[in-house]
Amino acid sequence: MSAAETRPEPVREPENWSPTSWQSFPALQQPTYRDTAALDAAKEELARLPPLVTSWEIFELKRQLAEAQEGKRFLLQGGDCAENFSDCESSIISNRLKVLLQMSVALVYGLRLPVIRVGRFAGQYAKPRSADTETRDGLTLPCYRGELVNGSEFTEATREPDPRRMIKAHARSAMTMNFVRALIEGGFADLHHPEYWDLEWMRHSPRAADYQHMISAIGNSVRFMETLSGTRIHNVNRVDFFTSHEALLLPYEECLTRQVPRQWGWFNLSTHFPWIGLRTANLDGAHVEYMRGLRNPIAVKVGASVTPDDLIRLIDRLNPEDEPGRLTLIHRMGRAGIAKGLPPLLEAVKREGRRVLWVADPMHGNTESTATGVKTRRFENVFGELELAFDLHAAVGTRLGGVHLELTGENVTECMGGARDLTETDLARAYRSAVDPRLNYEQSLELAMLIVRKRGALPVSI
Ligand code: PEP
Ligand code: CO
Repeated sequence: MSAAETRPEPVREPENWSPTSWQSFPALQQPTYRDTAALDAAKEELARLPPLVTSWEIFELKRQLAEAQEGKRFLLQGGDCAENFSDCESSIISNRLKVLLQMSVALVYGLRLPVIRVGRFAGQYAKPRSADTETRDGLTLPCYRGELVNGSEFTEATREPDPRRMIKAHARSAMTMNFVRALIEGGFADLHHPEYWDLEWMRHSPRAADYQHMISAIGNSVRFMETLSGTRIHNVNRVDFFTSHEALLLPYEECLTRQVPRQWGWFNLSTHFPWIGLRTANLDGAHVEYMRGLRNPIAVKVGASVTPDDLIRLIDRLNPEDEPGRLTLIHRMGRAGIAKGLPPLLEAVKREGRRVLWVADPMHGNTESTATGVKTRRFENVFGELELAFDLHAAVGTRLGGVHLELTGENVTECMGGARDLTETDLARAYRSAVDPRLNYEQSLELAMLIVRKRGALPVSI
């Protein structure tokens, strides 16, 4: 997370916008806080707490995303569907970082492009839900909206939205961020020591040999360059790492929206890269209103039901000046829907000459339930959608500039398939997600290797 090297060109300040202007628009997916005095008190406290990121880092990410829009970088964005407060612990955080680092090395090596690493963490605590309430055995309670809002346990007390959770989420995000920063600064990402990223069970992975082969090839290249130049290459010691989350719970986001000295405008300083989820991306809704005023780079999820006209209007609203690096569109249509849904959108954006970064989320359009009601995804559909995404972009003459994944560094069994061919019976073994199923460590690394093979650039045999 380094400071900005360059300052972006100033663009105009958005009109009629303030961090609270969203309040006059319909806000979907918000909880009902019954104790409004407690909500006000929590907001007041949150607004005084320090931010989690800096404007320099935000500008640096925007600069890198602008380069990705020109095909000079590739975005890897990944992490849990939703973080849990109880997962804010050393090994879970470092394992997730290890997987993302390993995947990014595979992508850099194979795609011959620098990778922008963005975690879905340090703030990914709020979830959109399909219904406001849930009924079990005749008892109806508010739905679980993520740990930022309430708890998942089905009791009246736990499901009651509690504004104090915003304070706790801010603290857990800060702890997560602090640990990630310390690891990175301490040389955890050093390419001289890829063994730092080894995970216990990696030795048994069907992909281990490919990965080791690639890592030793990289090590040889680094040593070769060092011998050639007679000096140690230092800039392989550390990498930039950025954070992102769905900006869903607007009172929380509002309180972390700040001004900084010597810059105009407002920044969401709870994360580098907030995104708008599919369910809250309506043009006239509160989330679009809130996000249009930020100086952060922002992303929006795009589903198969969005029309080209809707999309262009959304782009106009969120990036009226066509600012480089500002807007990322994350399409998530499902393997079955992408061939029909995506090309008209790509064509419209191309025709209008709008500057966006196109990213594929091959997870959210491929969720299914087993006969016993377990939420899962098939690896073949995840990779299948991604392959189609690369091909569909190529056919239109646009570029797929990144991937957005739900993954974990833990050895969970939540998605089916992959090199070990996890089956429906395996799901029961280590299913830990309270929301969407994540790729486990092996499946994530395998996906990175397959992307590289798809791009035809991997010199090792996989
Ligand atoms: C998510 O990313 O976890 C999510 C809810 O995605 P979407 O908004 O695309 O449904
Ligand atoms: Co999800």
